[in-house]
Amino acid sequence: MKDSVSPLKNGVVLAEIGSHSNGPWCAEYGAGAALVVLGTFIVDARDDVPYNRDFVFKPGRENYGDYLNEHVAAARDSGAAVGVSVASVNLDDTIDFFLAAEEAGADYISECLHSTMDMFVSRGLSSALLRRDNWPALREWISAILDATSLPFIAKIGVHDTPDTEQAVEVMAGVGVNIFHVNVGDAPSEHGSQVINRLRRPERVLIIGGGIRTSEQARKVIAAGADAVAVASAAMDDPNLCGRMQAALRRRS
Ligand SMILES: Cc1cc2nc3c(=O)[nH]c(=O)nc-3n(C[C@H](O)[C@H](O)[C@H](O)COP(=O)(O)O)c2cc1C
Repeated sequence: MKDSVSPLKNGVVLAEIGSHSNGPWCAEYGAGAALVVLGTFIVDARDDVPYNRDFVFKPGRENYGDYLNEHVAAARDSGAAVGVSVASVNLDDTIDFFLAAEEAGADYISECLHSTMDMFVSRGLSSALLRRDNWPALREWISAILDATSLPFIAKIGVHDTPDTEQAVEVMAGVGVNIFHVNVGDAPSEHGSQVINRLRRPERVLIIGGGIRTSEQARKVIAAGADAVAVASAAMDDPNLCGRMQAALRRRS
């Protein structure tokens, strides 16, 4: 099996930015990173999804298969590994989208458990799956994805989305998740270090993001125990940031 851990060590991840992170955009803005994440894409049968239309697909391989082939290939020009992030109210649609990403040549799949959009939260999904009372559904949802797919799986979460998010990491670890992408809000701060300390385990890969804008801040987050750092907002302002930050981190490793 392909090594999913080493490529992320001391890595820079271009985080998913809904409405921005398509293949060409990731190729440009994620150049030189360790991993770029396409999406988050939404798969939904309705017509009223409140999201940029380019990132919303109707269920069915015929609606996103070609798109994924084209955009995963385009993202490869970044030189980074390529991940695909999805959110859907339907588990079968989520799984099929991941399988299509796998067929398109992606290296990682990422489930967006970080959305606070009403279409998800009102159904107890995405970030709401991390709430304690939804943990049975969380176990079911994640186990089904892990059983059906073979690419390394990343759980994308935000520590401030629910009061139970940090404990939900252990719930997901219990069903086999070992890569977590955590938006901690202000990663370079003391609070960020404390979250890293609470979540880190020898067998676990932690991609930590939130408020990282400079190589110095990225180094600090790695020194606090993160395996990789994620950037979104700062990368949108500077297409060279990921490459510069990655070079700085690798120089030290
Ligand atoms: C405009 C914008 C769109 C985003 N869209 C998504 C998304 O679709 N899915 C997701 O999991 N996170 C999304 N995020 C969160 C980012 O991936 C990242 O976790 C967060 O912004 C913290 O990193 P930063 O401080 O470097 O921006 C978005 C962030 C921004 C700023």
